[in-house]
Amino acid sequence: MKAALSLATLLSIAPAALAANLTLVKQYAGSSFFDAWDFVDNFDNTTNGDVQFVPQSNSPSLAFVDSNQRAIVKVDNTTSVDYPNKRNSIKITSKDYYEAGTVWVFDAVHLPYGCSVWPAFWTKGQDWPRQGEIDIVEGINTMTNNQMALHTFNGCNAATGTNQLGKTGTTNCNDTAGAGCTVAETADNSFGASFASNGGGVWATQFDASGIFIWFWGRSNVPASISTATDSIDISSWGAPSASYPSSACDIGSFFGPQQLVIDITLCGDWAGVPSIYQPVCGGDGAADGCYRNSVINAGSPNYDNAYFEINYIKAFGVNSSVLTSGSGSIWLFRFRLIRNPDFFHRW
Ligand SMILES: *[C@@H]1O[C@H](CO)[C@@H](O)[C@H](O)[C@H]1NC(C)=O
Ligand SMILES: *[C@@H]1O[C@H](CO)[C@@H](O)[C@H](O)[C@H]1NC(C)=O
Ligand SMILES: *[C@@H]1O[C@H](CO)[C@@H](O)[C@H](O)[C@H]1NC(C)=O
Ligand SMILES: *[C@@H]1O[C@H](CO)[C@@H](O)[C@H](O)[C@H]1NC(C)=O
Ligand SMILES: *[C@@H]1O[C@H](CO)[C@@H](O)[C@H](O)[C@H]1NC(C)=O
Repeated sequence: MKAALSLATLLSIAPAALAANLTLVKQYAGSSFFDAWDFVDNFDNTTNGDVQFVPQSNSPSLAFVDSNQRAIVKVDNTTSVDYPNKRNSIKITSKDYYEAGTVWVFDAVHLPYGCSVWPAFWTKGQDWPRQGEIDIVEGINTMTNNQMALHTFNGCNAATGTNQLGKTGTTNCNDTAGAGCTVAETADNSFGASFASNGGGVWATQFDASGIFIWFWGRSNVPASISTATDSIDISSWGAPSASYPSSACDIGSFFGPQQLVIDITLCGDWAGVPSIYQPVCGGDGAADGCYRNSVINAGSPNYDNAYFEINYIKAFGVNSSVLTSGSGSIWLFRFRLIRNPDFFHRW
């Protein structure tokens, strides 16, 4: 018990002590928000969602900067989709990769939500699973609290007894063993309608050799160190994170390569559309494609009127200029998340 307490104390100071002075290395905001991203242009073949990801050039109404200078990323809610077609949506990946030593700040006033809707703001390495995945904002259907997770190659775990505010689910981050190592947010207003009605909020994610730490604040609790941050940011006063994955149980350098940012919204698929998950809260007939037939097809409104991100900015701070520009032409876009289906490997 004594050992556990002193470990917790150490963990609570470790992230801040190691990176108190970080300078701005990249900002995605305002009219140039979409300049430094690539648009995925194919079916959702990574989570089997019922969407066609479309480029901005074809569907400017799904990815644009609004009159408040906020970036909108949304699902098509104006098209009536006929069976068995997919519905248009957006998936973007940052052109830049970030090394350990980075803090990303994500400020949004609205997140996508509603039956069948499965949005995420997350990061991934180039060579999954060897280079890891960090799920910062993610939820499905009628969930009211955000869920965070890491996904890695076998051998990375979430330490127990860490100084965090969220609730640990699975501790094994080995993707092939399940949902990754999840932490459920316990703060109110971290997802769904209440996130938006509360004015949104901010997530900060520290990707560091000492561990991976995710903080969340609802709008009225966003610390001054964030709201006033311009050229640099001081994370020393942030306190306990919502999710804490110290390197004591996961050697960050071994399991995480430089990370690329991803924003996407899928529908149904391997999590939101699982009949035993979808049907109890969203209805339908409980068939394998019940989510698709109940939510996705026919009119897009009102089902998808709230299926949009509205983002103030994303900023990256680093100890050096830790932004990397990838020269790699072939990045494995395979997103290996929630493997509830034991036959998953056989399907690939
Ligand atoms: C942070 O780093 C910058 C650049 O190295 C330096 O000018 C500044 O004094 C540092 N601030 C603190 C509080 O250490
Ligand atoms: C930052 O720069 C120093 C000095 O060049 C280097 O030793 C260190 O590895 C760099 N750290 C990161 C995270 O890039
Ligand atoms: C991790 O996943 C691999 C591949 O499915 C499996 O062989 C291994 O047993 C898993 N390890 C753990 C600790 O679950
Ligand atoms: C679609 O969603 C937007 C908000 O994202 C809303 O303003 C609009 O009224 C919705 N319905 C239609 C038919 O466009
Ligand atoms: C998904 O489809 C695209 C386009 O056909 C392809 O480039 C990519 O490799 C596919 N991804 C997977 C995981 O199959």
